[in-house]
Amino acid sequence: MTSGSTPPAALSGRILSGIQPTGSLHLGNYLGAIRNWVALQKEFECLFCIVDLHAITVWQDPKELMRSTREVAAGMIAAGIDPAANALFVQSHVPAHAQLAWVFNCIARLGWLNRMTQFKDKAGKNRENASAGLYVYPNLMAADILVYKATHVPVGEDQKQHLELARDIAQKFNNDYGVEVFPLPEPVIKGPGTRVMSLRDGSKKMSKSDPSDFSRLNMTDDADAIAGKVRKATTDPHPLPDSVAGLEGRAEAANLLNIYAALTDRTLEQVLAEVAGQQFSAFKGKLTDTAVSVLGPINAEMKRLMSDPAEIDKVLAKGAAKANAIAEPVLSEVYKTVGFLPRG
Ligand code: TYM
Repeated sequence: MTSGSTPPAALSGRILSGIQPTGSLHLGNYLGAIRNWVALQKEFECLFCIVDLHAITVWQDPKELMRSTREVAAGMIAAGIDPAANALFVQSHVPAHAQLAWVFNCIARLGWLNRMTQFKDKAGKNRENASAGLYVYPNLMAADILVYKATHVPVGEDQKQHLELARDIAQKFNNDYGVEVFPLPEPVIKGPGTRVMSLRDGSKKMSKSDPSDFSRLNMTDDADAIAGKVRKATTDPHPLPDSVAGLEGRAEAANLLNIYAALTDRTLEQVLAEVAGQQFSAFKGKLTDTAVSVLGPINAEMKRLMSDPAEIDKVLAKGAAKANAIAEPVLSEVYKTVGFLPRG
């Protein structure tokens, strides 16, 4: 990792992505994000951020937040993120995120924030009672990305609108001040795992906040838990079809097949060629074995890492030092651009 504000020439660009330390990491986080990060780390300079400032936009129990922050770090390392080659760090350890977010609060327009579907979903009917932090959440997310001048942002489908806003903020900042401070970051959303749905309801995304643990496979689930959840996963009475068109109107079947395709690194078409005509009972056996073989080793390594929290904290401190070295000069450039007097 180099310091300064441009990525090293030999790599394809600089990646920043983030994950909230709220509740257990699940298969959606793994297939939609973490697994892709592992693959991209060879080609890009990478910064991976555990976004605790974002987490507290809704209430978090302080002790649980600490535990969960370490667990997310353990999950990422266990899944194959190399903290020596990348910066793996906690958002609150790099003050420039919050500092740049303030500037962006003054760039983003209320109309833009009012269009954010995630705010509407999370605030629910009781909008008046949502935190102000939840409302400006996307501005902080834009700061996470732009404080490193990241060029690429690998995420799941649900983050697309937030990334469009980050691009709008970068563009408006550049236009307002007549500068080229920020690149427009490219979303990287690809593969069959970019939108993993709930195991109970194929119309809802798999999420940490779903009250039913049966709706998701957690990265901490053991083989018995995985088998139980897959067995109970909602299906329909028909055998599996032989074409993608045959999945029309069968959201649960499509979801389980997408998960199987993502876990085995194949396309939906390839998977359908294998399982066409099968009953769910037979297919669920295969899906369970595959999920256990992928998640089992990650789960065991997470447990081992979590037994030494001081070691995790050391890794995160090193990551924060690398991240601060890149973020500080960018923040100074922004402060100078907007006309803040230099510090002493
Ligand atoms: P979060 O913590 O909800 O999720 C982390 C990553 O996992 C992906 N993901 C999914 N992918 C497929 N199917 C699902 N069911 C699923 N659920 C989650 C998310 O798309 C994400 O890539 N706002 C972000 C965190 C964030 C961030 C950032 C991301 C903060 N700053 C800067 C990128 C860049 C969030 O809440 O992710």
